[in-house]
Amino acid sequence: MPKRLVYLDNAATTPVRAEVLEAMLPYLGRDVFGNPSSAHRFGRAARAGLEEAKRTIAEALGGGAEPGQVIFTSGGTEADNLAVIGCALAARERGGPFRVAVSAIEHKAVLAAAHAVARLGGEEIVLPVDACGAVMEDALAAALERGVAVVSVMWVNNEVGVVQPVARLAARCRAAGVPFHVDAVQAFGKIPVSLAEVDCTLLTISGHKIGAPKGIGALIVRDRHAVEAIIHGGGQQFGIRPGTENVPGIIGLGKAVELAAREQADFARRVAALRDELERRVLAVVPDAVVNAVQAARAPHVSNVSLPGTDSEALLMHLDLAGIACSSGSACSTGAVEPSHVLTAMGVPAELGVAALRFSLGRDNTAEDVEGLIAALPKIVEKVRALSAVLHR
Ligand SMILES: Cc1ncc(COP(=O)(O)O)c(C=O)c1O
Repeated sequence: MPKRLVYLDNAATTPVRAEVLEAMLPYLGRDVFGNPSSAHRFGRAARAGLEEAKRTIAEALGGGAEPGQVIFTSGGTEADNLAVIGCALAARERGGPFRVAVSAIEHKAVLAAAHAVARLGGEEIVLPVDACGAVMEDALAAALERGVAVVSVMWVNNEVGVVQPVARLAARCRAAGVPFHVDAVQAFGKIPVSLAEVDCTLLTISGHKIGAPKGIGALIVRDRHAVEAIIHGGGQQFGIRPGTENVPGIIGLGKAVELAAREQADFARRVAALRDELERRVLAVVPDAVVNAVQAARAPHVSNVSLPGTDSEALLMHLDLAGIACSSGSACSTGAVEPSHVLTAMGVPAELGVAALRFSLGRDNTAEDVEGLIAALPKIVEKVRALSAVLHR
């Protein structure tokens, strides 16, 4: 019998949903192929699909956004770059601060965008987090006091799943008159995401984390004056993100967003129970395992577990051989495994940081997947520990 494969890497990406593919098909073939900027009937047909997707997305965000505020991008990375660099450029243009503030546990799409602002002659402020991954609010207050073009804090962290108090942070930024950007790539569809409750200026979503294809995302821009374009071309999307829109991708994103919003509560209930079971079972078979950020408010789909005395790259290789896919947040640079910036910022000791695995659950996972992991894990941990003991003798 072929080996049963277990996919526990849904925070990296998800398969395209059947409903999404079906919705996209007419736009991928010869049916609706027009350029949405063309005034003729071919163009108008494409434009109608695109406008419908905007309405769906605005509605799915709790009614706090207008369809005209949905700006499509090539994914989460581009949306994050547009938010951070675009706000910095807009502020500089107005004679405001060419300075951005981002949390220490942001995705590289935000961190690297902040570095880019610094390379352009601006400044980046990195806001530290506590052991639960929550942004230190005195550091935020100090940054607001100095003056920044934008504050960027993610709603749910992709490596450990911690949830930030974005409503409160948004209110603080609003009171200071500073645009607030929220990367909601790992939040949307997993926890309630309502722009009626979170008064942010900008919000990022990405299609491939919720069953749409890779290469499509959106930045919700609630204040058009807050951002300046970072790529240049025709006047599409108010000039904020020019370029002929990826119509099939947009149709897919709209469908995936509609389904994810409708199913969110159900998803959270089911997946949180599976995540709890996974953690309970891992701790039962590897009693000295440490669940990172367990004391924090967490989204339901991510579990980050350190297996002391191992290194995550070796674990990943053995798990893959056993047909189990998950990931680590650690980076393997120059041959040495280094703990992820997220765990380091949260104060997780390096020896636990290099031994961390991220299991991320999706809508297709079942108790059988947890069984599959638990059947393989103890032997793999034993093997990696034995090898590691030899290497460090
Ligand atoms: C929190 C977060 N932000 C941004 C991104 C980047 O999104 P994309 O892969 O669509 O560029 C990801 C994906 O890994 C993510 O998890």
